[in-house]
Amino acid sequence: MYCIKHRLWAIVALVMAGAAASAQTPAALSAKVEATLKKLTLEEKVAMIHGNSGFTSPGVSRLGIRELVMSDGPHGVRPEQGRYWGPVAPMADSGTYLPTGVCLAATWNTQLGYSFGSVLGSEANYRGKDIILGPGVNILRTPVNGRNFEYQSEDPYLVSKMVVGYVKGVQDQGVSACVKHYAANNIETRRNFVNVLMSERALREIYLPGFKAAVMEGGVNSLMGAYNKFRGQYCTHNDYLVNQVLKKEWGFTGVVMSDWGAVHNTIEALYYGCDLEMGTDLSMLPKPDYSKFYMGDTVIALVKSGKVAEAVVDEKVRRILYLMYKTNVADGVRKKGEYNTKAHQQTAQKIAEEGIVLLKNENKTLPLTAAVKSIAVIGLNADRKQSMGGGSSQIRAFYEITPLQGLKAVAGKQVNITYSQGYTIERGAQANAALIQEAADAARKAEVAIVVGGWTHGYNYNVWADNAYDAEDVDKPDMQMPFGQNELIKAVLAANPKTIVVLMGGGAVDMNQWINNTPAIVQAWYPGMEGGTALANILVGKVNPSGKLPMTFPKKLEDNPAEKLGMYAKDSLNMYYTDDIYVGYRYFDTYQVEPQFAFGHGLSYTTFAYGNLTVTKNGKGAAVTFTVKNTGKVAGAEVAQLYVRQEVSALPRPYKELKGFEKVVLQPGEEKKISINLKEDAFSYYDDNKHAWVEEPGVFDIVVGGSSRSLQLAGKVKM
Ligand code: BGC
Repeated sequence: MYCIKHRLWAIVALVMAGAAASAQTPAALSAKVEATLKKLTLEEKVAMIHGNSGFTSPGVSRLGIRELVMSDGPHGVRPEQGRYWGPVAPMADSGTYLPTGVCLAATWNTQLGYSFGSVLGSEANYRGKDIILGPGVNILRTPVNGRNFEYQSEDPYLVSKMVVGYVKGVQDQGVSACVKHYAANNIETRRNFVNVLMSERALREIYLPGFKAAVMEGGVNSLMGAYNKFRGQYCTHNDYLVNQVLKKEWGFTGVVMSDWGAVHNTIEALYYGCDLEMGTDLSMLPKPDYSKFYMGDTVIALVKSGKVAEAVVDEKVRRILYLMYKTNVADGVRKKGEYNTKAHQQTAQKIAEEGIVLLKNENKTLPLTAAVKSIAVIGLNADRKQSMGGGSSQIRAFYEITPLQGLKAVAGKQVNITYSQGYTIERGAQANAALIQEAADAARKAEVAIVVGGWTHGYNYNVWADNAYDAEDVDKPDMQMPFGQNELIKAVLAANPKTIVVLMGGGAVDMNQWINNTPAIVQAWYPGMEGGTALANILVGKVNPSGKLPMTFPKKLEDNPAEKLGMYAKDSLNMYYTDDIYVGYRYFDTYQVEPQFAFGHGLSYTTFAYGNLTVTKNGKGAAVTFTVKNTGKVAGAEVAQLYVRQEVSALPRPYKELKGFEKVVLQPGEEKKISINLKEDAFSYYDDNKHAWVEEPGVFDIVVGGSSRSLQLAGKVKM
């Protein structure tokens, strides 16, 4: 009896699930959209294609369709901004603060991309948000870009792999992700004016793949146009980028929204693909009048006078309604979501533990053993909260464990930990002799010194006032550590050679003044609310580091290809990307420039051996297998990286390119076989003359190893 009943319920459940699923098929969604569209007046439609507050756009209250609610940002749900950007009453907007984009990418763990997105999606639901304005996937073209910390990598393949998980993670929670900033927004200086010019090949090979993957593999529901111009037209309404490539070629059916205040022209916005205008009110503060947006009353007048067909507006509303029905904004019920759960905090910690990179470790300086009884922690970043910094990606963290707090919690019972600030954060400030003296004295008295420094992030939205270097709307002047930190590190090293340098920030600093004397260096990025715990776990060896650099660290800024080959818009508003496809390691390898730390580099407390490479041609692709063995004494994870090089090609190609990777966890002595299937696109490149991807016959080298400069295996395949 029980069994029959049980089965009956199972059948009922299946039928119901089937009904729910079929209600969400594209055809069913489109039918709902078309039915609603027919009921709307022109005024209602036009209202829907522009914002009606800082982070909302209208629904249709007469039909029971509520507003669409958006929120930054890439690594958490942003504190409430108030409808009109005014002050908000205290509210429960302190949420999970995940590590920032570069730290996620440094995990090289695509499953963590999904976990990251799931936390965001769940917290967005809880906070009543329909669209999360992230991920940011712009290519890291130069170390000075102020927003690198929000983005992911210099390598389009790594970006593409990480972004898909992130988008699916968010959207499986029933809310929309919004991939941004499309496209070529690789520097903040003059971001609202600069006109980026590059070859079609660079666009296709380097700058677009992350967006393409978000659209075609991730199925992202919305996309944000960038502030800058591309080939003379603003990106948010750019006929080529939006109409031709995104919507026509990639078949994007979602919503293209502007960056905040990025629409500049009604006709261009109408015809060149912008579906939703946001943030223009910033220029109308303190009295925003939303009907005066470019896509407001002017559009109504244009349609009424017959100058613009109503169908142009319909197409935009259709996309917005589709997103609304798909994510239960127009009907259905938003999921409840969860907020500040232990599981979310653990995800934040796990990402930090896998994303923090051990750059240098001489004489087994790390991990710190139980024999160490005194540590001098030095540096402002050791006890500075980072969550509210950076501009629009700021998060009011439910809590944030600083490196100092993390160390005290993890090792403080057995170890005497002192703290000295070491420097102050005043822009342009030179070395503070008294603080340096105090830090050096503390270092001398301790067995080990740990300097935690690097870039700063600001505390509030006003990034300029906060001396921020890693933030929206600012760039770094160069790669030199600010606030006299070079002097500080040198003095501490002189006082205690057993000094570990921990760097926070969105990317590289110039280490030339102290790197040779420093036995251990750790890159900690902005590691989120549990970053201090994760860092401490790594320093004491509770966690074996497994992060790998998602970008090259140059020795000095002048070595960077954008400086050497490319051009910044320093004197004019046109920025020519004459570095072309030679971004990051593609340049360092091809032009044989020695980096400080190579793309894909990251050390472990154990060692790995690679072996047994097989490469077999498989149609237009190739099947590659090899083994990785943990040859050390502790468990660890290795990111096995596969690069492809075409020996002879009609057009010049980079020396090698990342085309596959896998992160593998291994116990001491354990060996695992890794299989990577290279598809046709792993061998092809974009030929500007043919305006197409080409796969030329010839011999390709397949090289495999633990970084782009430490390749243990090499094979060949003839295609
Ligand atoms: C940023 C976007 C952000 C938007 C809304 C803009 O200034 O560039 O990334 O999503 O503001 O805050």
